[in-house]
Amino acid sequence: MADSAYQPSEQALALDRDCTTLSRHVLQQLQTASPSEAQDLAALMGRVGLAGKLIARRLSRAGLMANTLGFTGETNVQGEEVKKMDLYSNEVFISVFKQSGLVCRLASEEMEDLYYIPENCPIGRYTLLYDPIDGSSNVDVNLNVGSIFAIRQQEGNDEAQDGVDLLQDGSKQIAAGYILYGPSTVLVYSIGKGVHSFTLDPSLGEFILSEENIQIPTHGPVYSVNEGNFWQWEESYRDYVRYVHRHEGYSGRYSGALVGDFHRILFQGGVFMYPGTVKKPEGKLRLLYESAPLAFLAEQAGGAATTGTQDIMDFMPTELHQRTPLIIGSTEDVALVTSFIEEQKRMVEDRAAAGVN
Ligand code: AHG
Ligand code: MN
Ligand code: MN
Repeated sequence: MADSAYQPSEQALALDRDCTTLSRHVLQQLQTASPSEAQDLAALMGRVGLAGKLIARRLSRAGLMANTLGFTGETNVQGEEVKKMDLYSNEVFISVFKQSGLVCRLASEEMEDLYYIPENCPIGRYTLLYDPIDGSSNVDVNLNVGSIFAIRQQEGNDEAQDGVDLLQDGSKQIAAGYILYGPSTVLVYSIGKGVHSFTLDPSLGEFILSEENIQIPTHGPVYSVNEGNFWQWEESYRDYVRYVHRHEGYSGRYSGALVGDFHRILFQGGVFMYPGTVKKPEGKLRLLYESAPLAFLAEQAGGAATTGTQDIMDFMPTELHQRTPLIIGSTEDVALVTSFIEEQKRMVEDRAAAGVN
């Protein structure tokens, strides 16, 4: 009897994997959750996937379509020039989530205030926070860009429509992730049960599971930072970069898109940093829709993320578009950067104690 027991062939196992779509994966992960929570999250992730497919479709033909490349002529709330793809992608997320029935509010890098979808609010208790195009300087030169997202549950009624309940730490994220538009389109997400990546199969129009339970190596060769800002950094960051310049085993990699740089580090290890600068003392990256979602992933993958003095996941913002310095990646590499920050702090304190300026 045992001899004739059915053993799935390699082909059957490969087919099982090919059938693991994003929404099926979310449902599998939430088998012990309440059915309504599982349905909501599967639906929300399905909508994020749809937004990713729409943006990927437009990017894949960007050089051939009118109104796709270049700037709009507007400046956003960050004081940055808006690209046509920023605007398009921002609108993609709005349209997609209008039809979700589940999302009442959207917060985006491209919108000064929260965007409300009143028809969803009686039932939709979720808020989507997103960076529609991360690394938008790469769009016009056909290099990798991404979208970053986080989902939080609304707390209270938000009667004043000020979204004050969003000004909380990263543990309030119930899902986070990104879509990387590179040679293939890859979606990486976590709902607090590990980090998983999916690749868009254009022939199926589906995100199919490519890797489950990704773990960041504890150390890696990559250091990823815009060294053009060296002159603007605090001495501790300069000391770290001098250290890597003088030791074997490091490789500089910086693409101009956080999502792409983080993705490399997620798989190969290393550290990405965007410190404060003279011109931007809090750095460039925004907490709620850039740093905190990636910190959620880093933590879930066994890595670390800090401002240099505080875990990103513990940081309490005071405004929607708050910026923070970011050091993120492998635990050992993040610890090496922070050791320089601590050493610098000690030196300053010692000098102050000795009455030396
Ligand atoms: P965005 O395109 O959403 O404004 O983000 C760009 C960010 C990030 O993706 C990247 O790491 C960094 O800005 C690049 O900035 P610099 O050009 O200052 O290095
Ligand atoms: Mn960005
Ligand atoms: Mn952006």
